[in-house]
Amino acid sequence: MNDTRRAVLDALADGPMSGPELARTLDVSRNAVWKHVEALRESGFEIESTGDGYRLGEIPEFGPAVEYGLDAPFEIEYHDSVGSTNDRAREIAGEGAKRAEEDIEDVVVLADEQVGGRGRLDREWVGPSGGVWSSLVLRPDIPPSHAPLLTLAAAVAVTRTAREAGVPAEIKWPNDVLVNGEKLCGILTEMEGEANRVSWVIVGIGINVNIAGDDLPEGATSVQEQAETVNRRIFVQRLLEEFDELRTAPDKILPAWREYSATLGRRVRVETRNEDVVGDAIDIESPGVLVVDTEDDEVRVHAGDCEHL
Ligand code: BTN
Repeated sequence: MNDTRRAVLDALADGPMSGPELARTLDVSRNAVWKHVEALRESGFEIESTGDGYRLGEIPEFGPAVEYGLDAPFEIEYHDSVGSTNDRAREIAGEGAKRAEEDIEDVVVLADEQVGGRGRLDREWVGPSGGVWSSLVLRPDIPPSHAPLLTLAAAVAVTRTAREAGVPAEIKWPNDVLVNGEKLCGILTEMEGEANRVSWVIVGIGINVNIAGDDLPEGATSVQEQAETVNRRIFVQRLLEEFDELRTAPDKILPAWREYSATLGRRVRVETRNEDVVGDAIDIESPGVLVVDTEDDEVRVHAGDCEHL
């Protein structure tokens, strides 16, 4: 969010303030104040003009307002409706080198409704209004082999945020967030890079938040169904803050993943490209390798579709 707009909101948070007073406090012209107030209104902020000056009403539940009060270095690009946030994120990532040189914040593409959402293995992803459909465009200085850790970090961040909202979420390997076996969130990570360094990583996170049970696909659940309707602005802010904390402390990712895992200790069948691995899931290793005890052997599975038996 533009710094002056943030300053307008901060100033009005303490009570109404007249245009001239705002102009003095922010050291800008009265015309500039008016323009920023108009822009904020367009983003959904309620700013009334009263006899006492501008008065700030309710902060919107979702939308561009997610950036206001966010304690993590992300710029939000919000859409009421979009095809796929991952597709839009790929366009932004394509502007690549230029943005990296400008040293700007990482971008999060966020939408209320997604009409062409993509899941893993080319599956369709249903994204009705009320969800949190988001794609983080990241440019970490890591080799491609470490990128799966970011997916695990996203799963941990979603789980923590859902638990804070009263939803007993767990992680199914590699990165589904479930509640009693029903899907609350799916994560689709895409990346581009060279042998030893990624150019960009997109972490697409789709969470069923304020969606009624009847509007969900078979086998899915939502925060609303499991607990109650939540304020999505605060929900997304907590999610991004948790994710930001984990990516800066990668040693904490695997221990947290183990703590929230629904897979470890379970008998599983993992369909990999070459074979089905059946056995007990006993551990996860960096950057997201599932260790399965098949009785004959300990098999390390890097990728696949996992079924709990
Ligand atoms: C899965 O198959 O479980 C992964 C689903 C990922 C869905 C999210 S919603 C936001 C982002 N945009 C997409 O098109 N997909 C991801």
